[in-house]
Amino acid sequence: MTILVTGGAGFIGSNFILDWLAGSGEAVVNLDKLTYAGNPRNLASLADDQRYRLVHAGIEDSAATAAELERHAIRAVVNFAAETHVDRSIAGPRAFVATNVVGTLALLEAVKAYWEKLPQSARAAFRFLHISTDEVYGSLGPDDPPFCETTPYRPNSPYAASKAASDHLVRSFGETYGLPVLISNCSNNFGPYQFPEKLVPLIICRALADESLPVYGDGRQVRDWLHVADHCAALRRVLADGRPGEAYAIGGGSERANIDVVHEICAILDRLRPRPDGRSYADQISFVKDRPGHDRRYAIDSTKLQGELGWRPRQSFEAALEKTVRWNLDNADWVAEVTSGEYRRWIDRQYA
Ligand code: NAD
Ligand code: DAU
Repeated sequence: MTILVTGGAGFIGSNFILDWLAGSGEAVVNLDKLTYAGNPRNLASLADDQRYRLVHAGIEDSAATAAELERHAIRAVVNFAAETHVDRSIAGPRAFVATNVVGTLALLEAVKAYWEKLPQSARAAFRFLHISTDEVYGSLGPDDPPFCETTPYRPNSPYAASKAASDHLVRSFGETYGLPVLISNCSNNFGPYQFPEKLVPLIICRALADESLPVYGDGRQVRDWLHVADHCAALRRVLADGRPGEAYAIGGGSERANIDVVHEICAILDRLRPRPDGRSYADQISFVKDRPGHDRRYAIDSTKLQGELGWRPRQSFEAALEKTVRWNLDNADWVAEVTSGEYRRWIDRQYA
């Protein structure tokens, strides 16, 4: 048996593939366009693993997807492929619609055509798991109950709107054609291989480079943080036993204000890699212009996932954050490689 993972050279996808192959004998085909966010080096440890294959193609390329589905008799698709950075979606929304909406539709069409030709038992067992985000629900007030599967969609950024559109398309293929689809809506992830445009690795990376630590607005925006390994464990449960047609909200139950996350990272670095001049990394914090349309608070109620599928986050936020800082310190080569070229151009534009 083989599964097809899309966007598996990115942050969550590569963690998912590494965890998957560590825990199961089932082969993985990784279809990835290798945009700036995709890095085959994340999966370098699989170079000699016969169970792993990388296909360099975009999800919008239905012919490439169809060929891989047939060639490997795929029994499930896990769709991570997306443009994912909110600030980039504000600077240029078009790429987000191209991949997240049009690309997802092309992928669904290719998968549906393949699935329709399968024998009945294989059709029933087939799964299409679409990885989505809590950002589709919009923003919460300080006293609002957390998001759950029945929260109405109210996306605020072009990124969130494009993910919301892709969720609706996926759901429609379930309702209209009977494709056995699953959707997961997860909160903010952090961990190894996260591209340092996102808050946690950006702060680690800039702190070590003696650069300013940009905090948007008043820094009191709240996110619900989850270590990527816990997200991947949840996805394996949803893929194995989730009910087709259903969505599952995934969150860490770890709400933190951005400024507190930044201070926590600085405190960890002060312990693990003190600045040569003895000052705290927190001295590098700089409050900058707010993100337009910045969502104030996200929080997730994952009761459904916990009750139906027995998943729980295993790692505390503090321990997982320290582990993530250590990973960045221990993988300076990886960080140096991804922070050259296109990354530098983005940072110069965004934080000039
Ligand atoms: P990422 O930006 O690190 O990686 C995205 C991957 O998709 C890259 O490997 C890239 O090359 C690939 N890709 C981009 N366009 C493609 C295309 N047209 N065809 C094929 N591959 C393409 O993203 P991530 O943070 O790992 O997020 C993965 C998924 O999880 C996304 O769908 C995202 O919306 C969702 N998600 C992310 C988070 C988070 O905190 N990072 C939280 C919830 C949900
Ligand atoms: O909630 C899930 C989402 O989490 C995913 O769907 C997205 O793909 C992922 O990028 C992430 O979106 P956020 O916008 O929440 O993540 P980001 O790391 O960009 O920002 C986290 C918070 O930190 C947010 O409130 C904005 C703030 N921030 C971010 C950056 C990059 C800053 O204050 N300064 C910064 O320089």
